Amino acid sequence: MVLTDPFQRDIRYLRVSVTDRCDFRCVYCMSEHMEFLPKKELLTLEELDRLCSAFIRLGVEKLRITGGEPLVRRGIMTFFEAMGRHLKSGALKELTLTTNGSQLSRFADQLAAAGVRRVNVSLDTLDEGKFKQVTRWGRLPQVMEGLRAAKEAGLQVKINTVALKGFNDGELFDLVEWCASEGHDLTFIEVMPMGDIGNEDRLGQYWPLSDLRAQLAQRYHLDGLAESTGGPARYVRLEETGQKIGFITPLTHNFCESCNRVRITCTGEIYTCLGQEGHSDLRGPLRASEADAPLEEAIRAAIALKPKGHDFDYSRQDVAGRVSRHMSHTGG
Ligand code: GTP
Ligand code: 5AD
Ligand code: SF4
Repeated sequence: MVLTDPFQRDIRYLRVSVTDRCDFRCVYCMSEHMEFLPKKELLTLEELDRLCSAFIRLGVEKLRITGGEPLVRRGIMTFFEAMGRHLKSGALKELTLTTNGSQLSRFADQLAAAGVRRVNVSLDTLDEGKFKQVTRWGRLPQVMEGLRAAKEAGLQVKINTVALKGFNDGELFDLVEWCASEGHDLTFIEVMPMGDIGNEDRLGQYWPLSDLRAQLAQRYHLDGLAESTGGPARYVRLEETGQKIGFITPLTHNFCESCNRVRITCTGEIYTCLGQEGHSDLRGPLRASEADAPLEEAIRAAIALKPKGHDFDYSRQDVAGRVSRHMSHTGG
């Protein structure tokens, strides 16, 4: 019954974008002037429930809600509460989200009550001015407030930091020490060539995590950890601080071979690889019939088209393998 792709990879992890909107405009994720979809294009919360429930019947055990910014979608707590029933039944092992943190002070308690245990929060810098520069519209104090609320609600926080040369390379140790003092895990991500990269110096900003890791190793002892969160990160523990540091390295250490995930957009398209343009429609089958069988059939057909992996490559000046879709379309 489990969904298995043509390369014998079992699909256990579903990432669902519930909105294309966001209250920030991070430079590597969106353009400054985005045109958002009319609301009628979006899957309703009931449709999202039906779709996620179908995937869970087909063996998905980890559900991550993304966006845009998932917490700006109206009524989204109803959806988290509804998904909580799959945690209670034991079918789902983890219900979680990736957020920019701006709305966490409002929602942290409700998320915890729905069964969320961990949240991943994007934060690339601890400097207020630089935070404004990278998010364009974000305010750092609001995110800090959200992080406090998450901690108070008992949520484990993982900070996601996109590694950007000339932007946050000087802050590496500050970020590590701040996360250690707050009790947050920290994961670094290699910037991927997606969206409007023609307008920016994405190639110049690319900071390979092999370099970042070598810098860390000059100050700390790094113990490799075998444990996994079921996502793409590989982890080490810093002996001196005890904290866990993750590395997401699509470029320097391709992890496609063990890929266990697919993505749904807020309009019900399924992208079976983040780094490819190919996708299939699930909204049609979802709306065409109330029966589950045709929907499950469409899901299986989409998984059968999952490619082997991405073709990102910064080593060529033209940034080979780039994807013109914005990261916000599939929620990372
Ligand atoms: P954990 O459950 O904490 O392991 O989370 P996660 O790493 O699965 O999710 P998160 O939303 O924090 O993703 C972090 C980053 O990893 C994002 O920038 C994603 O785009 C990137 N990422 C996640 N999955 C993949 C993948 O399959 N391929 C590539 N190339 N990048 C991925
Ligand atoms: N490359 C790498 N990571 C990115 N993210 C957004 N755009 C990119 C990109 N081009 C990250 C965000 C968030 C996660 C879902 O994806 O910072 O933490
Ligand atoms: Fe999976 Fe594609 Fe990411 Fe590779 S790039 S790990 S195949 S989603």
